[in-house]
Amino acid sequence: MNKYTLCRKTVFLGVFAAIFAAFVPSTGWAQAAGQWRDANHVYTKICANCHEIGVGPVIKGRGLDPEYYQTVARHGLRAMPAFRPTDVDDAMLRQVGEMLSKSPAPGGTK
Ligand code: HEC
Repeated sequence: MNKYTLCRKTVFLGVFAAIFAAFVPSTGWAQAAGQWRDANHVYTKICANCHEIGVGPVIKGRGLDPEYYQTVARHGLRAMPAFRPTDVDDAMLRQVGEMLSKSPAPGGTK
């Protein structure tokens, strides 16, 4: 590898990083905190994408502790990504936990 190819690679990486940095904050889960209507809105827009389709386990109707939902959502758990306060703030996450803790299992069975 000569100096020229090394240089081109560096430029390529730089461009890639710039594109990445420009796109990531505006895509994916990047909903501004505070734009959620209620806990159910958060659940259907975020959690259900995995938890209603078999990517993650069913989390409704299992009698899980409200705080457990908050902790897992904030810190992640093995295969599950963590959500930042800018994705969902603490107050809303608490409501999500309380709502899910009381929700019946999907399909009405336990
Ligand atoms: C990108 C997919 C994905 C999203 C989005 C997601 N989860 Fe998860 N979740 C998972 C996976 C996968 C697991 C299982 C993790 C493991 O055991 O490796 C999991 C596990 C959990 C658990 C633990 C369940 C148990 O049996 O102990 C809770 C609680 C949970 N998620 C809550 C939430 C909440 C609340 C949200 C929405 C804020 C959410 N998850 C969004 C993928 C997701």
